Amino acid sequence: MKRSALVTGASEGIGYAFAARLAAEGYVVTGVARNEGNLKKLTGELGGEHSYIVADLTTTAGQDKIVKAISERHFDLLVNNAGIAATGKFAEIPLKRHLEVLTLNCEAVVTLSHAYLNSARAGDALINVSSALALMPMPLMGLYSATKAFVTSLSESLWYYQKKRGVYVMGLCPGITSTRFNEHSGAGSQETPKIMTQTPEELVDAAMKALKRRKKPTVISGAVNNVFAFISRVRSRRGVINMMGQMVE
Ligand SMILES: NC(=O)c1ccc[n+]([C@@H]2O[C@H](COP(=O)([O-])OP(=O)(O)OC[C@H]3O[C@@H](n4cnc5c(N)ncnc54)[C@H](OP(=O)(O)O)[C@@H]3O)[C@@H](O)[C@H]2O)c1
Repeated sequence: MKRSALVTGASEGIGYAFAARLAAEGYVVTGVARNEGNLKKLTGELGGEHSYIVADLTTTAGQDKIVKAISERHFDLLVNNAGIAATGKFAEIPLKRHLEVLTLNCEAVVTLSHAYLNSARAGDALINVSSALALMPMPLMGLYSATKAFVTSLSESLWYYQKKRGVYVMGLCPGITSTRFNEHSGAGSQETPKIMTQTPEELVDAAMKALKRRKKPTVISGAVNNVFAFISRVRSRRGVINMMGQMVE
C-alpha cells in the first residue's frame, strides 16, 4: 500500500515543494489551495494518482471540505502549510485582513489538526508549518509572528501527547524562504541576503530528514535560523524585540 499525504497550500511555494518531494518519495499526494489552475499544473507535473481539492481555508465551507476528506480516507501525513501574513503597521492594516491571517494561520490549523488526530493511526505524522518568527516577533509582522507562536506552542503540546500513541507531530520553523510569500503579504519582492535565504527544496529536505527521525517537536531549518533562535533564547525579550524592530526600520 502506498502512503498518502494531504498538503495545504500546495499550489505554490513551500507547499508545492512538499508535494513534489513527497510524490518523489512514493506518497500519493492530495494538494489543497484556492487556485485550481496551479493545483492542476501540480498534479499534471507529478503524474500518476495524485489529486487536489480546491478550498478556501479562511471559510467554514472550505475547512469543512477538508475535514470531510480527512474523515473519509486515511492520510499517513498531513502538512498544514497554507499560511499568510499582512506586513505593515498594525492599526493601518484593515481588520478584515488581520482576521483572514488569524483564521488561516490558527483556526484552520486547529480545525484540520483536530480532524486529523481523531482519525490518525500509529506511524502517522502531522507537520504544522510555523516560522522562525514564532520565536522572535517581527514588529511589522506582529500578528503573523503571534499566529506562528501559537502554531509552535500548540504543535509542541500535541507532540508530547501524540508520541504516546505513535503519531509524530512537528512544528516546522522556516526562516526566509524564496517564495512569493512577501509579495503576497504586501511587503513587495524584497532582496534578502543569500546567506539568510533557503530554497523551498532545502527547507523541505530538512523537514523530511526530521520526519524520518521522528524526534524533535520543533524543527528550525538552516544554520542562520538556528543562530537567531539561539540568540532569542539567551537575550532578554526586550533585546530580541528591539533587534527585530531595528532590522525592519
Ligand atoms: N516564505 C517564507 O519566507 C516563510 C518563512 C517562514 C514560514 N513560512 C510559512 O510557510 C508556509 C507557506 O508559505 P510560502 O512561503 O510557501 O507562501 P506562498 O508562496 O505565498 O504560498 C502560500 C500557499 O498557501 C495557499 N493559501 C493562501 N491562502 C489560502 C487560503 N485562504 N486557503 C487555502 N490555501 C491558501 C496559497 O494557495 P492559493 O493562493 O492558491 O490559495 C499557496 O499555495 C506559510 O505557513 C508561511 O507562514 C514561510
